[in-house]
Amino acid sequence: MLDKFFMDMLKDIYWAEKHLVETLPGMQRAATTDELQEAFEDHLLATQKHVSRLEKIFRKLGKEAQAKKCEAMAGLVEEAKSIIKETKDGTMTRDVALIIAAQKIEHYEIATYGSMVQLARTMDKEDIATILEQTLWEEEDTDQHLTQIAESSVNPKADLEGTEEEENGQETTMSSSAAAMS
Ligand SMILES: [Fe+2]
Ligand SMILES: [Fe+2]
Repeated sequence: MLDKFFMDMLKDIYWAEKHLVETLPGMQRAATTDELQEAFEDHLLATQKHVSRLEKIFRKLGKEAQAKKCEAMAGLVEEAKSIIKETKDGTMTRDVALIIAAQKIEHYEIATYGSMVQLARTMDKEDIATILEQTLWEEEDTDQHLTQIAESSVNPKADLEGTEEEENGQETTMSSSAAAMS
C-alpha cells in the first residue's frame, strides 16, 4: 500500500520539478535585481539535478520515469506568472512578490521531500531516502537564501518604492476622479 502511495508522490514531484525547469527561466528574466536573477539561475541548475535524481529513483525501483500532473504546483506556478503580469518591470516590488511566490514553491517541495524521506525510511529504502534528503537540503538552502535576499536588500528598498508609488497613485486617483466628474 505504501509502495503505491510512494510511487504516486514520486510521479507527482517528478512532474512538479520538470514544470519548474520550464518556469524558472521566466522568473529569472522577470526579476529586477542581479541578486535574485542569480538565485533563480542557481536554482534552475539545482532543479535540473532534482529531476535526474528522481529519474535515478525510478530506475532503482525498476520503473520507467513517469510524470503525473501536480495540481498544487501548477497552481503555484500560475500564481507566480500572474505576479509577473501584475507588477511593473524593473521594480523592487516585483522582486518582493517573486520571492514570496518562489518561497511558496520551495515550501511545497520541502513538505513533499520531507514526507518522502520519511516514507522511504519506513519502507526500509535507505538508499532512496538518502537521495531524496540531498534534494530536501538543497530546497531548504534555497528557501533560506531567498529569505536572506528579501530581508537584507529587496524588502527595505521596495518599502521606499511603496511610498513613492503611493504618492503617484494618489495623483492618479485624483485625476481619474476628476475625469469621471467632467
Ligand atoms: Fe526541486
Ligand atoms: Fe526548489
